[in-house]
Amino acid sequence: MKIHVPTLISRKRDGEHLAPDEIRALVDGYVAGEVPDYQMSAFAMAVYFKGMNARETAALTRSMLESGTTFLHGPQHPPVVDKHSTGGIGDKVSLVLAPLVASTGNWVPMVSGRGLGITGGTLDKLEAIPNFRVALNLEEAAVQLERIGVVMMGQTDRLCPADRKLYALRDVTGTVASIPLITASIMSKKLAESLDQLVLDVKFGSGAFMRTEKEAQRLADAMIAVGREMDVEVKALLTPMDEPLGRAVGNALEVIEAVDCLDGAGSADLRHLVLDLAEVISPESRAELSKRLDDGRARAKFDELVTAQGGNPADLRRLAEIHEAPQVREYHAADTGTVSKVDAGLVGQAAMQLGAGRTRATDTVDHAVGFDRLVKVGERVHQGQPLCRVHVRDRFDYDIAEALLDKAIRIDP
Ligand code: URA
Repeated sequence: MKIHVPTLISRKRDGEHLAPDEIRALVDGYVAGEVPDYQMSAFAMAVYFKGMNARETAALTRSMLESGTTFLHGPQHPPVVDKHSTGGIGDKVSLVLAPLVASTGNWVPMVSGRGLGITGGTLDKLEAIPNFRVALNLEEAAVQLERIGVVMMGQTDRLCPADRKLYALRDVTGTVASIPLITASIMSKKLAESLDQLVLDVKFGSGAFMRTEKEAQRLADAMIAVGREMDVEVKALLTPMDEPLGRAVGNALEVIEAVDCLDGAGSADLRHLVLDLAEVISPESRAELSKRLDDGRARAKFDELVTAQGGNPADLRRLAEIHEAPQVREYHAADTGTVSKVDAGLVGQAAMQLGAGRTRATDTVDHAVGFDRLVKVGERVHQGQPLCRVHVRDRFDYDIAEALLDKAIRIDP
């Protein structure tokens, strides 16, 4: 279809709805290099302000999905399922959930992203495991999926190239926070896994993309509508992200906490959320899933995954030594009382300042730094008691983290 791009941009700017084949032609033209970045950024800004209806969002998702190749599962495959989280602080759920669900016989071809801004990314965490390869190609991924039922990898050049290009553009043009653009971006990548079922963890709160439950519901509704349009069962849980998930924030520190959870131990809020989400996409009951965390079956599947992707499960017990930060300091309570706030957004900012996250997609992350043994809301503490450990490169970084923790943690008498 021949389109006149300035007219499409103006029509969207004026709030018109575009036809699916117009959106398709625009996306195809962008991937082919015929539509330049300046026109696509103007279009993205028009969408940012005027939105898209469900039909347009589905058309954008489909165009981005079909800009590349997808997973092709053979005819006799078990249910193919996955989870996507919109991202939070200390969110290491994927590391536990993928092997847990795969241990029940479902296939989990999890394509994840890197951290950007204050939220961490699954790929960065996995790379804290020495030699773990996240850059698998689709052929390698298919072989591994067939063999062990789980893959955790990054987006390849062939998966949704339109999203890759558009996301990089949105990142530098102030057009990331748009529900239809986020929906198409996330759903195109997830649907490229050729799923039967997807569960979404849509987070809201100070440490999430969406600040309010209402906004999170709008995003969830948009993603569910796209799933319906494309014949994939999508369910969403809306979960608060006002305090960090678990007690660790930082790449290696979060892997250590995830391994604890896979060993049936660790933080209760992490275990609960893993089970809430796993229950939706697994044939097994919550009680059975819980048992698999306690009896080593989920952990055994994670070890298989680590081995299959180049790592050594024996290193999982040594991660604290492998990624030992130059300084590990305690942060102490100024008062006695009950913890009423551990602000996830501020803890996330602090972790980023220490080097655990990235401000630009090309930055590298420091696997060693961050926080662990973090206090939880509702706990009683005494003046002088440690509220967390801070893993830092030097004293100056500690001072930055301390100032943010002073604001993040509130203790009521
Ligand atoms: N994550 C994505 O993959 N895309 C978005 O647009 C936002 C978050």
